[in-house]
Amino acid sequence: MRIAMIGTGYVGLVSGACFADFGHQVTCVDKDSAKIEGLNAGVMPIWEPGLEALVRSNAERGRLSFTTDLPEAVKSAEAVFIAVGTPTRRGDGHADLTFVFDAVRELAMVIRPGTVVVTKSTVPVGTGDQIETILREEGITDISVASNPEFLREGAAIADFKHPDRIVVGAEDAHSQDVLREIYRPLFLNRAPILITGRRTAELTKYAANAFLAVKISFINEIADLCEAVDADVQDVARGIGLDNRIGAKFLHAGPGYGGSCFPKDTLALLKTADLAGVDQRIVRTTVEVNDRRKEQMVERVVGALGGDVAGKRIGVLGLAFKPNTDDMREAPSIPLVNGLVERGATLSAFDPVAREQAEKVFTGVEFANDAYAAAERSDALVIVTEWDEFRALDLERIAELLKGKVLVDLRNVYDPDEAESAGLTYYGVGRGRILHR
Ligand code: UGA
Repeated sequence: MRIAMIGTGYVGLVSGACFADFGHQVTCVDKDSAKIEGLNAGVMPIWEPGLEALVRSNAERGRLSFTTDLPEAVKSAEAVFIAVGTPTRRGDGHADLTFVFDAVRELAMVIRPGTVVVTKSTVPVGTGDQIETILREEGITDISVASNPEFLREGAAIADFKHPDRIVVGAEDAHSQDVLREIYRPLFLNRAPILITGRRTAELTKYAANAFLAVKISFINEIADLCEAVDADVQDVARGIGLDNRIGAKFLHAGPGYGGSCFPKDTLALLKTADLAGVDQRIVRTTVEVNDRRKEQMVERVVGALGGDVAGKRIGVLGLAFKPNTDDMREAPSIPLVNGLVERGATLSAFDPVAREQAEKVFTGVEFANDAYAAAERSDALVIVTEWDEFRALDLERIAELLKGKVLVDLRNVYDPDEAESAGLTYYGVGRGRILHR
């Protein structure tokens, strides 16, 4: 199939590269000429394991190309995917669809009859209808508009794309269903379930999935607070409930709150959709509140571990990206934590294996260390904020020697409390029975 992918952000770039790897002919389009030049030279705009090699091999085979020329990419395509950003609109929490609609107007000028237009961006319910209206206004009638939300995670994006739990296609006519089935055929051969639904249903499924995962995280974070108050261990509680197949073990890791470019944005957008529909969504609303509060509370947690005052103290921070295997700093729990500690007069020495460049754009007055041990050196406490693999096997005795204050605040429960204590550290995890502040 000949595919045009509009937008080379996370979703667009990974999907485009994977479609090319399935054997399709893919042209990725972006307005950002520096990005396109970079991609043509093999330079990735994001840090994602395996992406550079995948792009390179498919570009070399002539199946994947990059351009700023949207009309050229679209005019011969059988399917045009829209994977541009849908950020939170300032002020009202709704998804901003400016980029989506701009792309639709532009592609309407050149698109061939019979082309399937597919939204891959996360878009509110009814966006497909609006796209159809725009196309009709431009005089185009023989066009199918479908929704095919993407469920990949940053840091595991290629594996998620190639081995999905399911593929959701919202397509209301036989032609678009056939085209999407053909595009995804290599995955059906691997028995990935495909769910063909109405377009609005597919659009809502994406938000409902992210909102439910966000609920799960906020739920376990609140249980972690309760564990601290009643001297129970949230890790064991999570395992104890997660082994029940009806609950499932995933997304039950207590921590500093969820971040990233999806959960915070999509929960707000779901609430906006619900408001507009006049239907209250109290669980999601509370989840957003719990998460916002949780991120703020992490400052108190570290201050509590340091005896109630961090002014003049030096604090080492391990991990800044919103999660491991990415350099993405969007809505990262590290942001309110680091800023809160700096505001209270602490000196910070932070280390992240890949996010330093992005973090430098976000923080002022933070020192960047070259590794975990350098972050610990002469610090009064070391705080694990992001659970990068390389922080999972630190030499804790060496950390204890380097630290001035011997305090380890493990916001991701990476370490066993007993192991940390026997290395000479005072250990504070999340939801593991030790009460830090009241
Ligand atoms: C999320 C979804 O997991 C993907 O399925 C979806 O496609 C994507 O959003 C999207 O809408 O594009 P992502 O934001 O990349 O993916 O990251 P996740 O791995 O879901 O993590 C999100 C946040 O939740 C991170 O801050 C992570 O640390 C936190 N988290 C996750 C927890 O605090 N506890 C957990 O148990 C799991």
